[in-house]
Amino acid sequence: MKKDVREIEKKFLMQTYARFPLILERGKGCWVWDTKGKKYLDFVSGLGVNALGHSHPRILKALREQAGKVIHVSNLYYHPYQGPLAAALAKITGMDRVFFCNSGTEAVEGAIKLARLYASRRGKKKFEVVALKNSFHGRTFGALSATGQEKYRKEFEPLVPGFRFARYNDVEHLESCITENTCAVLVEPIQGEGGIFEMSQEFMEAAASLARRNHAVLICDEIQCGLGRTGDYLASKHYRVRPDIVLLAKPLGGGLPLGAFLAREEIGALFQPGMHGSTFGGGPLACRVALEFLAVLEKEKVLKNVRKTGEYFRRRLLEMAAKYPFIREVRGRGLMLAIDLAIPSRPFVQMAMDRGFIINSTHDTVLRFLPPLIVEKKHVDALCKMLDEIFANTPWEPAGKSV
Ligand SMILES: Cc1ncc(COP(=O)(O)O)c(C=O)c1O
Repeated sequence: MKKDVREIEKKFLMQTYARFPLILERGKGCWVWDTKGKKYLDFVSGLGVNALGHSHPRILKALREQAGKVIHVSNLYYHPYQGPLAAALAKITGMDRVFFCNSGTEAVEGAIKLARLYASRRGKKKFEVVALKNSFHGRTFGALSATGQEKYRKEFEPLVPGFRFARYNDVEHLESCITENTCAVLVEPIQGEGGIFEMSQEFMEAAASLARRNHAVLICDEIQCGLGRTGDYLASKHYRVRPDIVLLAKPLGGGLPLGAFLAREEIGALFQPGMHGSTFGGGPLACRVALEFLAVLEKEKVLKNVRKTGEYFRRRLLEMAAKYPFIREVRGRGLMLAIDLAIPSRPFVQMAMDRGFIINSTHDTVLRFLPPLIVEKKHVDALCKMLDEIFANTPWEPAGKSV
């Protein structure tokens, strides 16, 4: 650990992150290296961003070429890549119109504005959004107001009015939250930060039909679960439900900050010049790289790998759950997987790091795995062998006694 970096950060950065003592310097494929030259197998991929792993040759080539041409032009002018990227995204998502921003939270903000605009154009002064308990949608005021977790909200109130929270997978409760003032129902098909919880088929269908019946829009936040993570371009496709608005970010820019919200024609066509905008959103560098990212997903059959390796990984985790009684549950789909423990999960992150693996802990007891979508069986085997070793040395007493 280079001490000076830590000290400089401690003095000059607002201390919003409880970082692990690790300075990462470079990456290749599923591997990253720290400043001492130690290598780690990356099962976090920058929180779902580095879907093609690190330093993918095609991403690097596109990045270098485009950086040498033009990096930024603003949205006052055209450039060659924003239109084609919008067309490519429309094709894979089944949406019609796209707006580009720079992050997930901005995609949420834009979608809320669009949902309110759609309601008001239909002559309805309705503005309420029904989101879900335990959700995570971001940190800015609109997105934070849509986030159903007290710990993120409580110091910043009052938040934006008009948000209600339904219980996940509870159709009756969802129904009771929707009123004549509801303009949108906002869901993550698989809650990510909340600890990897999949929406049931029944709940997703109910969310879509309740939204439709009440002239509200269904917004699917696919910022974490979209763009291949679950083995399809959208997690909502597994439910055979077509949302009205879809939110994307994380892997879209191949590591560069890029987000997007996409909508059906009738909704997306409502924005007129001046109603929404972004200085950086959809710039030539990020769009050129995003096009390359989508091309690689298709050319290298990455989604097929997600389905195959994800299934194998899930099986291996289930085997481990059968062996260790403190693993309460295995959850998730594709390469968005988690194990829920009956004991705190964060200590395992450090143990894994000491052994050359990067994994993530969320919600106190959950170990979340978001490897690059190009991860292979041999990497999964290596991770599971390491987990098996540390679990085998974990003292455990059944409920009622201390661990
Ligand atoms: C489902 C979901 N929505 C929104 C966000 C916010 O995205 P960002 O951190 O890019 O603002 C996240 C980030 O983790 C997320 O997982």
